[in-house]
Amino acid sequence: VTVQELDTPAVLVDLDALDRNIDRMARYCRERGLQLRPHTKTHKNAGIAQQQIDAGACGITVAKTGEAEVMAAAGIGDIMIAYPIATPSKAERVAELARSCRIRVSLDSEAAAECLSIAASKAGTEIGVLVEIDVGFGRCGVASPGESLALARRIRALQGLRFDGLMFYPGQIRKPSNEQTPMIEEVNRLLRSHYQVFADAGIGISTVSGGSTPTAFRSHEFEGVTEIRPGMYAFLDRNMLSIGVGEPADCAVSVLVTVVSNAVSGRAMVDGGSKTFSSDSALAPLTGFGSVLEAPEAELMGFSEEHGHLDVSGCARSPQVGERLRIIPNHVCATMNLHDRVWGHRGGVVERELTVDARGKLR
Ligand SMILES: Cc1ncc(COP(=O)(O)O)c(C=O)c1O
Repeated sequence: VTVQELDTPAVLVDLDALDRNIDRMARYCRERGLQLRPHTKTHKNAGIAQQQIDAGACGITVAKTGEAEVMAAAGIGDIMIAYPIATPSKAERVAELARSCRIRVSLDSEAAAECLSIAASKAGTEIGVLVEIDVGFGRCGVASPGESLALARRIRALQGLRFDGLMFYPGQIRKPSNEQTPMIEEVNRLLRSHYQVFADAGIGISTVSGGSTPTAFRSHEFEGVTEIRPGMYAFLDRNMLSIGVGEPADCAVSVLVTVVSNAVSGRAMVDGGSKTFSSDSALAPLTGFGSVLEAPEAELMGFSEEHGHLDVSGCARSPQVGERLRIIPNHVCATMNLHDRVWGHRGGVVERELTVDARGKLR
């Protein structure tokens, strides 16, 4: 079967590009002495997670407890939940997982640490904990070295928990690699201030977990980092291409759609809308919702739930009803989560169906 025979809309995964992306990141980490712990929220597929481990990753990252459960059931033995666990019901599930897996959680409050400790003590398991520090993204993470040290001390005193180190996510760095230097320096200034208080207190930090896809190949410049958690690098998307994370040929995912209407002049409708792509926005200065590979002058300017609105007024030839187009989505992680199955192909020949195993695992 070729991808042209698939019913649409269909998410296509170029397995050659995926293999190259996985191998390139694994090689970079090996050469720089960094552990690689890919964030699997991007693909949510246990087979790709195993491929990343086979290529050299030390384990995986997830955001949700439900994602961790899916990956553990598939045999992944080392999982970091890079998300604070703050309720007893989730803490109990995490403590259960720790019976069969090496589990770590990042968090930034005593309340979350205490919640995990109660569950781990009850289950008789041990959970590794990383203190999340804010390095400028302004989402989670304690704000000061005094707070990270105080929280680490508290974790060390709590039963069932093991203090493993620090975690950060430099999500504010979404620029081309050659423009990142001042932001990396600012992150390093903050990292050093945390390292200093731990050194003064004589508390060892065995792991510093950082990393993102835009900064991935500069990870060795972040001081003290021992492991990185890029996710999107495996697939890439329109936003990542726009900041030069890869070449168009490195983007492993596109969405195959069919033109279903061109009744309005200058417009064409395709059979994928917000329920196919997600409505995630483009990184400025880009606008719109995707790039059309077969018609670069067409602009995917809007969505209804099941319609993609293409402005084709700039195209020399308007797409005809029944024509198929491949569109690179703005944000691949959000797109993947909308699909049960996607199609892996090599050179347009379908090789296998991939299930999005941890799809919709929000709890
Ligand atoms: C905590 C955390 N770690 C790692 C990642 C992966 O980074 P990226 O999306 O740049 O691949 C994310 C992404 O949102 C994240 O939130």
